[in-house]
Parts: sequence; C-alpha cells; structure tokens
Amino acid sequence: MLEAIGLTKRYDGQLALDRLTLTIEPGEVFCLLGGNGAGKTTTINLFLNFIQPTSGTVRVKGLDVVENPLETKRYLSYIPEQVMLYKNFSGLENLEYFATLAGKGHYSRENLADFLTRSGLPAQATSRRVSTYSKGMRQKVGIAIALAKEAEALLLDEPTSGLDPKASNEFSGLLEQLSDAGVAVLMATHDLFRAKESGTRFGIMKQGQLVDTMRTDEIGHADLERLYLSHMHD
Ligand SMILES: Nc1ncnc2c1ncn2[C@@H]1O[C@H](COP(=O)(O)OP(=O)(O)OP(=O)(O)O)[C@@H](O)[C@H]1O
Ligand SMILES: [Mg+2]
Repeated sequence: MLEAIGLTKRYDGQLALDRLTLTIEPGEVFCLLGGNGAGKTTTINLFLNFIQPTSGTVRVKGLDVVENPLETKRYLSYIPEQVMLYKNFSGLENLEYFATLAGKGHYSRENLADFLTRSGLPAQATSRRVSTYSKGMRQKVGIAIALAKEAEALLLDEPTSGLDPKASNEFSGLLEQLSDAGVAVLMATHDLFRAKESGTRFGIMKQGQLVDTMRTDEIGHADLERLYLSHMHD
C-alpha cells in the first residue's frame, strides 16, 4: 500500500533521507523511530508529495506519488504534529469543513459528532469554539478529520504528542481498529512504549538511513529501548 524504493532527499546538498526502501502492507502499523533530524517527517512529507524526492520512488497503492499527486492523495489521511484548525469554528464545524474538502460532505451531524467522540473529544466540547480547546483536544479533532476521510492509508507525524496517557491509550485502540479494517499506517513517533503497543512493526532511523526494522511482537519493551539507545550511541 505504501512503498518507498531507494528514496533519497537532499536539502541544499544535505542528506535528509538516504536510500529508504520500505513497504507497508494493508493492516500494518509501521512505527518510525529515530532522533531529532533523523528523517521521519521528511519520509512522511514525501508520501504526501509535500516535497519531491531527489532520487528514488515513492508509491501509494502502486501509483507513483510524483506522477499521480491528486489520485494518491485521495488514498491518504494525515495527522500532523500540530493540527491546524479554524479557531472561531467549533470542533464539529472544523470537522464538517475538512471532511467536505476531502470529498466527504455527506455526513450527518450525528455521524460527525460520532467521529469526534470516537477520537476522544468530550461530547459537550464538540460545539465549543476551538479557541477554547486544549492542545490534546485540538489533536483529537485532527484524529477525527483523518478518520472521517476513511482513507486506505494513514500517515501520522507524532500524533500522540500532547495527548494524556489515557487519550494515548485510546488512540492505540483506534489504530488497532483501523489495522483490523485493513488500513496501512505509517507513524513517526518518539514514544517507544506506544510504538510497541500499537505497532505491528517498527523501524529505527538514523541520519536518514533505516538502520533496523523488526516486528513488535519479536521484542519486549525493555529490549526495544535498549536496541534504540544502542543505535543512538553508535
Ligand atoms: N525544509 C528544509 N530545508 C532544509 N533542511 C531540512 C528541511 N526540512 C528538514 N530538513 C533537514 O532534514 C533532516 C531530517 O529532518 P526531519 O524533519 O525529517 O527529521 P525528523 O526525524 O522528523 O526529526 P524530529 O524528530 O525532530 O521531528 C534534518 O537534518 C533537517 O534539518
Ligand atoms: Mg519530525
């Protein structure tokens, strides 16, 4: 579903991503780990065609993203680290607006409210202006927008940053449901615990290279942390 082949990105000569080759199948939740500046966001932005590769190929559902930018975007949902919302609109109105932009203008108010509560936003908050929301509440609206798009692949850039532990745990549950429904998930995260809990596979990036990949059921929490730190110290 999501495929990178020899994917390389340079910024003004500086290597941000170095020959990444990776395939994520439907139902997989692939967690991209790695220190600041390792190339995680760069990878996600290449799938979204926000930036163009220097060399190599990036495909969504077999289609080259650079050659088919509009069609491939239809298969993708995206949750950025900082969800951008209209502050003077309510959570519900934001969701309605962004769902309509994504071609999902047919939802009833009940459907929309349901996406918000599934994402963990308290029901009484859905009609309040977003300017009164906490960071985690805004993030939950972002999750609802991504869910409402009902895309076949989900790209997440540190989606749980700002979520409290309970919300983070509920988010893991949501990912599990999406995975069961056959959605392919690529998630950049610094949260090793969540990566082990919600991921089916993980990869460790360092200086633009994918230096290790493994199934999450092959390793325990403590060993994952040890493995991660050993790569960072190399
Ligand atoms: N627009 C840009 N112009 C120049 N260099 C950039 C640009 N965006 C990213 N880079 C560089 O590319 C490298 C990878 O950055 P990237 O944002 O992908 O890291 P990351 O793994 O997402 O880090 P973090 O954990 O801090 O979010 C870094 O060295 C960064 O400085
Ligand atoms: Mg990043």
